Amino acid sequence: MTDVLQTSSVVSKLFRSEQGGHEQVVFCQDRASGLKAVIALHSTALGPALGGTRFYDYATDEEAALDALNLSRGMSYKNALAGLDHGGGKAVIIGDPEAIKSEELLLAYGRFVASLGGRYVTACDVGTYVADMDVVARENRWTTGRSPENGGAGDSSVLTAFGVFQGMRAAARSQWGEPTLRGRRVGIAGVGKVGHHLVEHLIEDGAEVVITDVRADAVDRIRARHPQISAVSDADVLIRTPLDVYAPCALGGALNDETVPALTATIVCGAANNQLAHPGVEKDLADRGILYAPDYVVNAGGVIQVADELHGFDFDRAKAKATKIFDTTAAIFDRARTDGIPPAAAADRLAEQRIADRTPAADWLRPEAG
Ligand SMILES: NC(=O)c1ccc[n+]([C@@H]2O[C@H](COP(=O)([O-])OP(=O)(O)OC[C@H]3O[C@@H](n4cnc5c(N)ncnc54)[C@H](O)[C@@H]3O)[C@@H](O)[C@H]2O)c1
Repeated sequence: MTDVLQTSSVVSKLFRSEQGGHEQVVFCQDRASGLKAVIALHSTALGPALGGTRFYDYATDEEAALDALNLSRGMSYKNALAGLDHGGGKAVIIGDPEAIKSEELLLAYGRFVASLGGRYVTACDVGTYVADMDVVARENRWTTGRSPENGGAGDSSVLTAFGVFQGMRAAARSQWGEPTLRGRRVGIAGVGKVGHHLVEHLIEDGAEVVITDVRADAVDRIRARHPQISAVSDADVLIRTPLDVYAPCALGGALNDETVPALTATIVCGAANNQLAHPGVEKDLADRGILYAPDYVVNAGGVIQVADELHGFDFDRAKAKATKIFDTTAAIFDRARTDGIPPAAAADRLAEQRIADRTPAADWLRPEAG
């Protein structure tokens, strides 16, 4: 009985979800290698579905399938606003990667990606790495996030940080009239791969930076290069420190019922995924006059990079696309003002509009279109 209920929950999400459901979901099994995977294609309206492969030890298969459905839908929105000719997809491989990941399993997975004939383009996600994508790519032409030696684009955090910086400049212009962080105090929680590149952009722009990280070595590495940067003990202290901008660059859920009332910053713009802990937080931010730059919009530099890899990676071309995160973020703030809704809701509306109209990237957010 439980099995019947669980299956029906996945199927109803698939066909009857209020967001219009998914186009295609593929359940994959290779008994020889132990591969169990779900590839979810939410939409190919704008082009081949693009999104990474999560390798995770889910509590149940049902949970894995639902995660694939949710994550692939998120990729449709992210890719639409990243200005890519890609729809949204995501795959999950079920199991503990430490225990079951093998070359045989990754090759079997690569054959399933191949079976979709280009409708799905994969990349890295939690639990999968560049070296894994090199293996998956041996079985198909639709694998990105490979190593530079294998035609890949390498570390995506460089363009992710650059994109977050563009989003922050757009937020600064909206809040203070000038697209610069010069003279502003920016607090960064998490100075890992993305956060430490973001520090460099901000210093170059003339901002004052305050950082925190649970890893002392990450803080030390920054302060060795920039001794003027101050560090605080944790994110709770950081949000209460006088700031103009708060940049969550560590884990999700940074904006919640405890942190939003305590924030001193009037802009939130960072790389972390899923910053809003639950629906309604976006309104709490707006009610406090805090401008929130939607996470999935400003952190799209990484997906812009892997999308470029499909055409033979060209850093300058990818960077030019990531520069447009400024225009997209500005368009979202405009739409939020016009419609009287929080920026997170405005972002969703813009994405849904582009998907419904099937607007090619070349025609989207042209200057004359506003
Ligand atoms: N790397 C990318 O290209 C990319 C793209 C899109 C989104 N993101 C998102 O951006 C965020 C950062 O990614 P990353 O690649 O820099 O990861 P990372 O693991 O390199 O860096 C995260 C840093 O945050 C620190 N941290 C963890 N918990 C913390 C806490 N409670 N308080 C303060 N610091 C804490 C870690 O010690 C680490 O230094 C993640 O949410 C990731 O999903 C990354």
